[in-house]
Amino acid sequence: MSTIDTTDVLAGLAAGADLPAAQQPEWPDRAALDRAVETLRTYPPLVFAGECDVLRERMAAASRGEAFVLQGGDCAETFAAATANNIRDRVKTILQMAAVLTYGASVPVVKVGRMAGQYAKPRSSSTETREGVTLPAYRGDMVNDFEFTPESRLPDPDRLVRGYHASSATLNLVRAFTQGGFADLRYVHEWNRGFVTNAANARYDRIARDIDKAMKFMAACGADFDAMRTTEFFAAHEGLLLDYERPLTRVDSRTGQLYDTAGHFIWVGERTRDLDGAHIDFVSRVRNPIGIKLSAKADPEMVLRMIDKVDPEREPGRLTFITRMGAGTVRDALPPLVERVTASGAQVTWICDPMHGNTFESTTGYKTRRFDDVIEEVRGFFDVHQGLGTVPGGLHIELTGNDVTECLGGFERISDEDLSQRYESVCDPRLNHQQSLELAFLVADMLNRD
Ligand code: PEP
Ligand code: CO
Repeated sequence: MSTIDTTDVLAGLAAGADLPAAQQPEWPDRAALDRAVETLRTYPPLVFAGECDVLRERMAAASRGEAFVLQGGDCAETFAAATANNIRDRVKTILQMAAVLTYGASVPVVKVGRMAGQYAKPRSSSTETREGVTLPAYRGDMVNDFEFTPESRLPDPDRLVRGYHASSATLNLVRAFTQGGFADLRYVHEWNRGFVTNAANARYDRIARDIDKAMKFMAACGADFDAMRTTEFFAAHEGLLLDYERPLTRVDSRTGQLYDTAGHFIWVGERTRDLDGAHIDFVSRVRNPIGIKLSAKADPEMVLRMIDKVDPEREPGRLTFITRMGAGTVRDALPPLVERVTASGAQVTWICDPMHGNTFESTTGYKTRRFDDVIEEVRGFFDVHQGLGTVPGGLHIELTGNDVTECLGGFERISDEDLSQRYESVCDPRLNHQQSLELAFLVADMLNRD
């Protein structure tokens, strides 16, 4: 049996550690950080190389229009909110949305949770000032605590290890829910029927009835519904904290290649996608399917160089651009990027994040978004791709299964004054359960009309 030489890949990974890395915490205790990193290095992988390879194939199918990707979950997961009920309700929301989108797109929906690792946040300022007191900004539960005290805001490397355990427990439950019968299409459809029986949602009744008919037709044809009791479900997070991602990056014994085993799909955010920085270097060295966020500020030349770096083989499914342009900007800013990338021969997957270009502060002082802007950006994204003859591959949504009041609008008509009722996000506002389903029905309608 030949042994695979992994010296080069490991040396490359180690060399990347010397590159400038934006948005990293200033860990006050170097020895404690080294201990935490060493501990993570000894822990088992959270996901397996083979699963990442499957997701890469699914992303490739989405780039050709043969699948549609739904990525969804919290802006920032927290340790306190990693409870069974919260995880169940988030998975349930994604399954419900996926069922509706499957009908709309007439292709399989690839389900990806922004979950089990979404514990670190980039911040526009490294400090926060309240009533004259300035403290380090909250950077996610894997770094510090949201509470506004000097002790809580001090970065604590033990949190990296806690983040691993919280992710592991979350993933364990997600695997149980999606493999143990909870994802049965018949239940999911029943939950969706519950949604449309609410009078406010009557306009979605036609789609629910169409799905009903399709299910009866399938049953009459002898479809094996028992085979649909389980579903594939993948985990994604922003690969921000390199002190977490690097020790969980492992050599796959089959191929000798590196995989970030902290999650199936790893994305690089708008603030850390520096071509010469440590984040892009890191993702270029691992085999996971990779996402890169692009705002309207992204320069097409830079985007082409990014493809050369992260996807030099032009491998379908390897690279996904998650565009987050803003409802008023997407129709102007997206076409030049898509045109240049398409002309270069690259085969990327295009996903729409209609959340991060549409954030503003409400009159009542909350960071929020309008449901209508979210829908409008999705509409613009579809129109641009339709106009160019390219493929809109999926959606990336900040959502929760709970009835929070963080985004304005939707059929419950959440207003500025309502935001204070149940605003629980420690970072960006999420669509609540109802708004998420409403989005899925509206998008299914957009897809179905084409
Ligand atoms: C996020 O996804 O929460 C985020 C910070 O996004 P972006 O990098 O696009 O700003
Ligand atoms: Co966010």
